[in-house]
Amino acid sequence: MNEVAPANAGSTQADDGQTNAARAHAGRAISANIGDVLVSCRGLRKSFGDREVMKSIDFDMRAGDITVIIGRSGSGKSTLLRAIAGLTDPDDGEMTFDGEVVFSEQKRTPAWKQVDSHVGMIFQSYTLWPHMDVLKNLTLAPRKRLGMSESESLERAKKALAEVGMSDHIRSKPVQLSGGERQRVAIARALMMQPKLLLCDEITSALDPPVAAEVLDVLRRLKEEEGIAVALVTHDMAFASKAADRVVFFHEGEIAVNATPDDAFNHTEDPELKKFVEAVRF
Ligand SMILES: Nc1ncnc2c1ncn2[C@@H]1O[C@H](COP(=O)(O)OP(=O)(O)OP(=O)(O)O)[C@@H](O)[C@H]1O
Ligand SMILES: [Mg+2]
Repeated sequence: MNEVAPANAGSTQADDGQTNAARAHAGRAISANIGDVLVSCRGLRKSFGDREVMKSIDFDMRAGDITVIIGRSGSGKSTLLRAIAGLTDPDDGEMTFDGEVVFSEQKRTPAWKQVDSHVGMIFQSYTLWPHMDVLKNLTLAPRKRLGMSESESLERAKKALAEVGMSDHIRSKPVQLSGGERQRVAIARALMMQPKLLLCDEITSALDPPVAAEVLDVLRRLKEEEGIAVALVTHDMAFASKAADRVVFFHEGEIAVNATPDDAFNHTEDPELKKFVEAVRF
C-alpha cells in the first residue's frame, strides 16, 4: 500500500527526464486498461483464533470499476480490504495485482513491492495529523519516504486538492475543516501516490447524508476521469445502486452475492441479501 512505499529513491534527474522520486512513487507501470482485471483473489482464507472470518474468498476487481461491498457487521468486509492493501496477510490463498502474483504460499511475493504504491486505503476515522496543515499532511510521506522534491510534492498536492475540490484549504489545519472536508483531504492524500486502486472502508459513515454524497461523488469522478478502481464498504445503498459497477454481499465470511446493482437489489434470490436490503431499505 502506498503508505509503505519503498524509501530508497533520491530526487535526482534520470535519463528519461523523470525524477527518481517520481519513478519510485509510481512503482512499476501498470498495464491493466479500463475493464481489465486489476486484482484477483482466489481461495483467500483467514481465521482469528478458531473463528474463520474469510472462507475461501474468490474476488476480482477490474480497472475503472467501483465495487461496493456490503454486509452485516463482522462478516469480513474490512478483513478483505486489509488483505488486498497488504495490512494483513491471509492464512491461505493467492492474490494477483495487474497479472502478477503478489501473495502466494502464505506470504507476499517480491512482486508486491513493485506494485504496492498503486494501492491506497482510507478509513472511517480521519487519519490526518492534527498539528500539520493540509499541505504538510499531503506532502510529508512522499517527501520523507520517496525523497520527492518540494516543488514536485507541491505541484502534486495542488492537483490532488483540485481533484477533490479542496484547493482553497491548502493551509488549513484539520481542526478547521468539517468531517466531509477532512475525508476529501484524506482522499487527496491517497491520490498523492497516483493509485490505481483505492480501498475505502466506511469513509462516509460519520457524515451527514448530503456531505457523504459529496465525498462519494469525488470517488465517482476519480473512476470516470482517472480510471481508478474503487472498492468501498458502505451502507449507502443509494450510492451503491447509482454508482457501483458491482455489488458484493458478504455473509459470514463468504461472498454470498457478486452482481450488478440491479441484480443485487432487484432480482436476488439470496435470502440473506433480501433480508439485509429490507433492513437498510433506501
Ligand atoms: N485483529 C483481529 N483480531 C481478532 N479478531 C479480529 C481481528 N480483526 C477482525 N477480527 C474479527 O473478524 C471478524 C470480521 O471482522 P471485519 O472487521 O472484517 O468485519 P466487517 O465486516 O468489516 O464488520 P463491520 O461492518 O463491523 O466493520 C469479526 O468477528 C472481528 O471481530
Ligand atoms: Mg469493517
